[in-house]
Amino acid sequence: MLPSDMPRLSQGAVVLRAFEDRDVALVQSVADDPLIPLITTVPSSGTRDDALAYIARQHDRLTTGAGYSFAIADLATDRAVGSIGLWLRDVDEGRASTGYWVAPDFRRRGYVATALQALTSWALSLDGIDRVQLYVEPWNEGSWRAAESCAYQREGLLRSWQKIGDERKDMYMYSVLRPKH
Ligand SMILES: CC(C)(COP(=O)(O)OP(=O)(O)OC[C@H]1O[C@@H](n2cnc3c(N)ncnc32)[C@H](O)[C@@H]1OP(=O)(O)O)[C@@H](O)C(=O)NCCC(=O)NCCS
Repeated sequence: MLPSDMPRLSQGAVVLRAFEDRDVALVQSVADDPLIPLITTVPSSGTRDDALAYIARQHDRLTTGAGYSFAIADLATDRAVGSIGLWLRDVDEGRASTGYWVAPDFRRRGYVATALQALTSWALSLDGIDRVQLYVEPWNEGSWRAAESCAYQREGLLRSWQKIGDERKDMYMYSVLRPKH
């Protein structure tokens, strides 16, 4: 049975927690990022109302069974810097997937590497999740380096896997498996 409430997961200087309305400025701050609104439902309008609606949708993810959408926050200040999710579409097959983003002002400080470590350890501790996978475009070195630092292995290149914006993109498939005992 997967948890029916959002846990609070902490690791190093990072905490993963549910989004709150006070995180609205973070969501607005990434509206003009060249990638984030294309690969997530972050609104590109940048309006406060749209950003609040995004936050409300994150709360629905658990009730609809889509998965767990966490804010990545700094442990010391509880200020949100980004987002990471655990998605359950294929959980009947023992597979979950993850995706994440960090606002530009907070990049290259280890937030995603630490958040992904926390999310992955928790996910693999849950009955029914034997594999966590993620998809990364080959140019996105920050993303695949974070994944590799959390023991994700590159399994191959999925050709023309996903439409991002107007173009179909190749994606590396990465995964980490539940250790066998
Ligand atoms: C990709 C992204 C999530 C990385 O987040 P981050 O918090 O800056 O990553 P970290 O600081 O944890 O860095 C992880 C590793 O990648 C390296 N790295 C980070 N950004 C990098 C970049 N632009 N180019 C090369 N290396 C980079 C770090 O030095 C670190 O390397 P190390 O393992 O050798 O120490 C962030 O840039 C982002 O949100 N980008 C837009 C959305 C996105 O691409 N999401 C992922 C889609 S798959």
